[in-house]
Amino acid sequence: MSTAEALNAQLEREAPAVAAALSPLGRRAFYPPDIPFQAAQARGKTYNATIGQITDGNGRILALPTITAVLDRLNDADRNRALLYSPIEGLAELRERWQRWQTPAAESLPSGALPAASVPIVTCGLAHALALTADVFAGPGRKVFIPAPFWGNYRQIYGIRTGAEVVAVPCFPERRFDPLALARAIASLPSGTPAMALLNIPANPTGYSPTTAERGALVASLFEEAERRPIVVVCDDAYAGLVYEDGIPTTSLFWELAGRSGNLIPLLVTGSTKELVFFGGRVGFLTLPWASDSPVTSALEGKIKGLIRAGIGSPPALSQMVLLQALRKDDIREEIAVVVAVMKERCRVLRAELERAEREHGAFRVLPFNSGVFALVELPEGIDADTLRRHLLEHEDVGLVSIGERYLRVAFCSLEAEAVPELVKRLVRGVGVVGGVGVAQ
Ligand SMILES: Cc1ncc(COP(=O)(O)O)c(C=O)c1O
Repeated sequence: MSTAEALNAQLEREAPAVAAALSPLGRRAFYPPDIPFQAAQARGKTYNATIGQITDGNGRILALPTITAVLDRLNDADRNRALLYSPIEGLAELRERWQRWQTPAAESLPSGALPAASVPIVTCGLAHALALTADVFAGPGRKVFIPAPFWGNYRQIYGIRTGAEVVAVPCFPERRFDPLALARAIASLPSGTPAMALLNIPANPTGYSPTTAERGALVASLFEEAERRPIVVVCDDAYAGLVYEDGIPTTSLFWELAGRSGNLIPLLVTGSTKELVFFGGRVGFLTLPWASDSPVTSALEGKIKGLIRAGIGSPPALSQMVLLQALRKDDIREEIAVVVAVMKERCRVLRAELERAEREHGAFRVLPFNSGVFALVELPEGIDADTLRRHLLEHEDVGLVSIGERYLRVAFCSLEAEAVPELVKRLVRGVGVVGGVGVAQ
């Protein structure tokens, strides 16, 4: 029996729904017992001649002084770890600290109990973590249901890369979030057919996080649908922590979905890109809904590590080390709170300005937003979003992003609060010019 077959058999025994949900690539994948595997086994040996890293023979890298000098503020051991290869699954201390970072208090969950979860695997940004979930569970013949409007890269990650069919599920009929739309769409599949779904909260591009009642309805509908099939639910929490309204829950839905049904398989994708404002660092994490010592985790981690090795080799140690410095600081949450406060103020100003413009000019309709770093406006019938976007570029010195044919996305993360009124004024003017009629100036 090959290693992949052994892992598949382990999954069929321990978690049949997971085995049924695997993609063809997911079935083939395994962690080969080659260099990193053998080098990990030899760690600490006096005569360790396994891995192709250039050291003094005692585990210290023979680094170039110019490169070492950039890392002056790190202590000797950290500097060494930053310049050597990271383990495929990431630096152990970082994984443990991130686990503590992202795990909520049990009392903050509706059930009052914390489900099991694995120690997260480090990825190269969140996009890479998403790509790994796609590799393992999406593929030709699989449908991936995504609340729309959604981040366009999902189409590349799940559809283009793997050949799965991405199904856009309109979730804002009449500008109100419909928590049941996702499960309703999945229900169109024949009973027993595995499905995949995406939950991105707070969301890009809508900037919306569901209320407690909406979350309750969403979770219940997914569990009900999971009685008919395995459902892999990817919780993309790229914008975790960026919530600006009292009463809007901030904990990941992952913790409400994990450990309650063999058929509902949530996967948690998090990272420091937005949460710790570390865009260039490319540190993401992938967490599974079983303890690290469970046989399901070990089988799936084997597959995931094999795919990491086959894709990026291993994640960058240098940026993991930078993130580690932040997570070791007791007051890092205070530093983050300063940034969140800036985002909250911009969100407030933008919402006031957009709603005023909608009221006074009827230029567009604002979708609800209470979190994240974006707002979405729906354009009147007859105005093509990309035509308006290009008009704003050429005539108004304004850059926005068009989403589909009807939406423009405003990224308030990159706009000063003081600039918001002028931007909205220009947007209204642009709608008037491109639309021709119907906008009171
Ligand atoms: C919803 C969402 N998920 C994932 C990502 C990717 O994050 P990263 O830059 O860490 O790959 C983004 C980036 O914009 C995003 O908006």
